[in-house]
Amino acid sequence: MQEYDATPYLPSRGGLPALRRAADGCQGCPLFRDATQTVFGRGPAGARLMLVGEQPGDQEDVQGEPFVGPAGRLLRKALEEAGLGDEDAYVTNAVKHFKFTPAPHGKRRIHKAPSLREMTACRPWLVEELRLVAPELLVVLGATAGRALLGSSFRVGERRGVLVPMPELEGIEPGALPGQVLATVHPSAVLRADDRDAAFSGLVADLSVAATVLE
Ligand code: URA
Ligand code: SF4
Repeated sequence: MQEYDATPYLPSRGGLPALRRAADGCQGCPLFRDATQTVFGRGPAGARLMLVGEQPGDQEDVQGEPFVGPAGRLLRKALEEAGLGDEDAYVTNAVKHFKFTPAPHGKRRIHKAPSLREMTACRPWLVEELRLVAPELLVVLGATAGRALLGSSFRVGERRGVLVPMPELEGIEPGALPGQVLATVHPSAVLRADDRDAAFSGLVADLSVAATVLE
């Protein structure tokens, strides 16, 4: 089986801008082929809070920025309600290219979950972002981001809304890792929930726990 891996595309030096430029040219797995562009993380190096989603959606793919579509709007609203609205957070995704299938009719593209191989291939970008941003707190949004950073057995339902010590990660000196990590649901799952108000309140409640770390 052909190996998927972003590692050969990583720059040998430089900060976030160099990392972002290098990611533009990544061909570490097949997802670059059908997507419009790499959607890298956004936010300042030195952000105290880093949020990790799954992968860019349709609008993110077109605009080249993470969380600029409906899920992003919902996330911003939830962050505000949780008292994190003023935080200059760094936001990114576990996978940097949009994976989709074309809808049978029309132009709409349907999101497809990335495979474990694709997630693993893309992980070096995320690890470098985490190393360079060095946030105090990491929030993982949903199961994909949770599995990418906390291990393949991670289940968001069992662990959401609880601050846990950050596990060690290969490729990062332990001292550079955030002290704690909190998992919650993905904002897209809130948009799809039958009871959207309850799901939104749950997301805000989890993020409010995260907010206590940054007070
Ligand atoms: N969903 C994500 O996980 N990330 C985005 O950037 C947008 C939607
Ligand atoms: Fe590279 Fe990640 Fe895009 Fe795959 S999804 S081509 S590993 S940036």
